[in-house]
Amino acid sequence: MAFPRRPSAVLRYVIPALLLALTFYILTGPTNIFQPDRLLSTARGSGHGATSHPIDGLILAAEKEFTDKLAKATETLPDAAAAYRKRRGRHPPPGFDKWHAFAKEKNAVIVEDFWDQIYHDLEPFWALRPAQIRRDAREFEMRIEVRDGKASSGSDWFWTKIWLDMIRTIEHLLPDMDLALNAMDEPRVVVPWEEIDGYVRKAAETRRMAGVKSVVSEFEKLPPPGQAPPEEGEAVEHTWEREKHYWLIARRGCAPTSAARQAPVVADFDQTPAIAGPSTLAHMQNGYVANYTLSTTFCHQPDLQALEGCLVEPLSVSATASLLPIFGGSKLAVNNDILLPAPMYWNEEERFMGAEGADIPWDTKEPTAIWRGVATGGLNRATNWRAFQRHRFVAMNNATQLTLASSSSSPAGKAAAAAGAAANFAPPDTKLYPTLPPNLPNWITSTTNIAFTDLMCAHKGFEPSCNYTAPYFAPTEGLPMAKQFGHKILPDIDGNSFSGRYLGFLRSTSLPVKATLWREWHDARLVAWKHFVPMDNRFGDWYGVLEYFLGGGKGNEKGRDEVAERIAMAGREWAGKVLRKEDMQVYVLRLLLEYARVGDRRREVMGWVGDLR
Ligand SMILES: *[C@@H]1O[C@H](CO)[C@@H](O)[C@H](O)[C@H]1NC(C)=O
Ligand SMILES: *[C@@H]1O[C@H](CO)[C@@H](O)[C@H](O)[C@H]1NC(C)=O
Ligand SMILES: *[C@@H]1O[C@H](CO)[C@@H](O)[C@H](O)[C@H]1NC(C)=O
Repeated sequence: MAFPRRPSAVLRYVIPALLLALTFYILTGPTNIFQPDRLLSTARGSGHGATSHPIDGLILAAEKEFTDKLAKATETLPDAAAAYRKRRGRHPPPGFDKWHAFAKEKNAVIVEDFWDQIYHDLEPFWALRPAQIRRDAREFEMRIEVRDGKASSGSDWFWTKIWLDMIRTIEHLLPDMDLALNAMDEPRVVVPWEEIDGYVRKAAETRRMAGVKSVVSEFEKLPPPGQAPPEEGEAVEHTWEREKHYWLIARRGCAPTSAARQAPVVADFDQTPAIAGPSTLAHMQNGYVANYTLSTTFCHQPDLQALEGCLVEPLSVSATASLLPIFGGSKLAVNNDILLPAPMYWNEEERFMGAEGADIPWDTKEPTAIWRGVATGGLNRATNWRAFQRHRFVAMNNATQLTLASSSSSPAGKAAAAAGAAANFAPPDTKLYPTLPPNLPNWITSTTNIAFTDLMCAHKGFEPSCNYTAPYFAPTEGLPMAKQFGHKILPDIDGNSFSGRYLGFLRSTSLPVKATLWREWHDARLVAWKHFVPMDNRFGDWYGVLEYFLGGGKGNEKGRDEVAERIAMAGREWAGKVLRKEDMQVYVLRLLLEYARVGDRRREVMGWVGDLR
């Protein structure tokens, strides 16, 4: 089992795990001795009567998913190597034994699936020539170089310095390599789906286990930086696109048959966006996110092209369609950048992480949701801000806006604007969410405290004032994280890219409610509805989620406070086990061993086979 070291930890995980396994056996096994409804309300123990809420089922499923994940944890090096070979279809990379010893020394939970992102990111590179991978890395403008167990960089860009600081903590375990780093917020690489598909097929042909005797277990040394001899083969020219309408670039990462590729392109954002229910069917069930990973990909959700600032007009764009190894802190599902933990996570910056206040006891918190933030998302203008996610979220939590949007005679477009409506969201679907409070505007006022701190309109060269958003949004004072932790519910909404607060939220005793399009290094180790609450990117489920936990709805006056607390604490406890700085080191060490191998000319016969000899 996962945690034999401390008996208390064993009790904490194994006993609930067994209970859950039993619960599931009862629910799904041949002898269904209880009605599921009764079992659910009993399990919840809060007297919500016999009808189960869709979220109850999602939480139960999450418990099972998590238990199944934990059950795959390995302790010994041979077990870890066997799990590797089973999942990856190759030998582990050279240095795997040292990686494992490092992970054990850092008390890391070792579940092979936790590193899935690495393989997703690196697999296509098995289809490129190693010499090309190396050349692209060493010719990129911003780099970290590792030689003879020492990492260095010619760049003093603050992100590079933080990443260098991180990599230096494991440099003695690293082979020679050059890392190309993305200096921008926005990811850089979107290879067309058809090409990536071809690369992945080609990569699959290299996936095999070389005979133990022929395995090479040393990495090649590299010449000192700047002294690489000319290599055969032509250099690949990479062109950089500046198209600000990023949807046009991003959607080529989707399959040709996908809705994103087939749907008409929206070019006019100066109107109330269409919020299309059907494109949520694949990832939602009865109004709530049932497949979180899928909810964060937009290929089946073409309406998001007019609902996300990063797809409408990011602050900056410099994108390429050719595969090259660029490391960065976050990316969209369609990007081919290689993920590292984001610099602010390694630095544990107070404004993002807010260690202070993170342990405020649940019972002393306000039973409300709080959000403060800047009106980011991209470059907001008079003609496009209605397509921005943060503007939508803030408007949806404004009682006046809700009243205007919900009235049956609600005006549309320019007329709505004249009537004072932001007109940038759809009123809640009361058929999907039948228990919402009858007076939603009053209720939202008493349960949320959500506002911008800055309307972000002072862009140089144009839009000198915020006269186009100021009628609908009143910016207020910012609140330090320590104060925000005094509230039970913390919605987390993407900014220009991923929201850097997420790790701080997870580590706190409050409950994060997360909507995102961004991928991060840690995604495979978190389970939606177990460690955090997932939310659809349209936010149509926000009121339902809030009502489920805080109450005030029909037949749910009190809310499910204990369920909210349980998820908040599970997230905090799990973050303390698998989202520590040590876990970032373990992730990066594994990543860089794999990266060095895929750039090595003998990669197909390289590996660690110490357990098979
Ligand atoms: C979520 O969706 C993805 C993509 O369609 C699919 O591969 C995966 O199996 C789904 N997960 C669950 C738990 O249904
Ligand atoms: C905002 O100000 C600009 C420049 O002063 C002006 O051209 C524009 O019409 C104003 N827009 C609104 C909505 O008032
Ligand atoms: C709520 O909407 C009203 C009407 O548009 C607006 O005047 C007010 O400033 C908004 N409040 C916040 C906190 O944004």
